[in-house]
Amino acid sequence: MKKYSNIFPPRERYIEKVVKLLRLGKVGALPTETVYGLAGNAYSNVAVRKIYQLKKRPKKNPLIVHFYNLEAIQKETEFNPYLKILYKKFSPGPITYVLKLKKKSKISKLVLNENKTIACRVPSHFLFRKVLKKLNFPLAAPSANLSTKVSPTSALDVFDEFKHNIPFILDGKKTSIGLESSVINLVGKPKLLRPGMITEQELQKVLKKKISKEKTKKILSPGQMKKHYSPGIPVYLNQKLPKKNGAILLFGKSKYLGKNKFYLSKSKSLKEAARNLYSLMRKMKHLGYKSISVNSIPNQGIGIALNDRLKRASQ
Ligand code: TXA
Ligand code: MG
Repeated sequence: MKKYSNIFPPRERYIEKVVKLLRLGKVGALPTETVYGLAGNAYSNVAVRKIYQLKKRPKKNPLIVHFYNLEAIQKETEFNPYLKILYKKFSPGPITYVLKLKKKSKISKLVLNENKTIACRVPSHFLFRKVLKKLNFPLAAPSANLSTKVSPTSALDVFDEFKHNIPFILDGKKTSIGLESSVINLVGKPKLLRPGMITEQELQKVLKKKISKEKTKKILSPGQMKKHYSPGIPVYLNQKLPKKNGAILLFGKSKYLGKNKFYLSKSKSLKEAARNLYSLMRKMKHLGYKSISVNSIPNQGIGIALNDRLKRASQ
């Protein structure tokens, strides 16, 4: 097989091909604005099982399902008083709502959490939306990486994870956000399960109430278990210099002269740093460095999500 022959350019002909494959129950990768997803028909047990199997994901870690719009979410989930308010402000975009599934929903029970809830997201990436619009089923799509590894932010990253084991990787260029969506549980008192581009403060402002953060004791979001987002080499936080045989990720200009330095952002932009984090970690690993040291990152805005992922990567 020709290398990369499963990476499809973003042209109409290939989008049709992707749609056809998804209708047949196949599983492949699609770009979103956050990270690439490994997508399959959420109504199909076969497709959903295939996703778990490809990712080597533990059965008890539930899957995010992607919908075309609010109506499509409402068709499958029980009424929730917060959903419409948040949706109007933040969707389509990098936010995932945890809701209660309707009893008569056709969605595969395999995507659910133990408590019968479902994570729902409406992505804004035009390619993902084009595909969803042509389908009459939602798409289960966790990040397109092997379980516990770093999420892919380009088609080549996805190829790196799955090679030719998936029939398509629709190429949507480098993702614009680079970190996974914020996950908010809306069943009962709103609770932020995973920080992302949309912050706790923004959510509080729109909901006009305090939202709680997940306590480590009772894990509502199994994917937020500690070891996660690992680049495959040790990560050291709050460093100014690289370790021996390692490299350093810099935030802001540095006087360090070694070749083994990589910039998250020269201008100290947190958004730019978020966009670069995963791809740089992959690059450093590929270049053969034995560890990654990282400057300290301000804990504000998307910096909170960056620090969350870095902390997990360092476990
Ligand atoms: O930006 C994103 O969210 C990307 C793109 C592809 O949409 N997807 C993604 O999926 O990051 P994944 O599976 O890597 O992360 C989903 C997180 C996991 O931590 C999972 O445990 C949690 O959401 N989750 C899924 N269903 C849940 C549920 N019903 N209740 C609580 N947490 C849930
Ligand atoms: Mg993931």
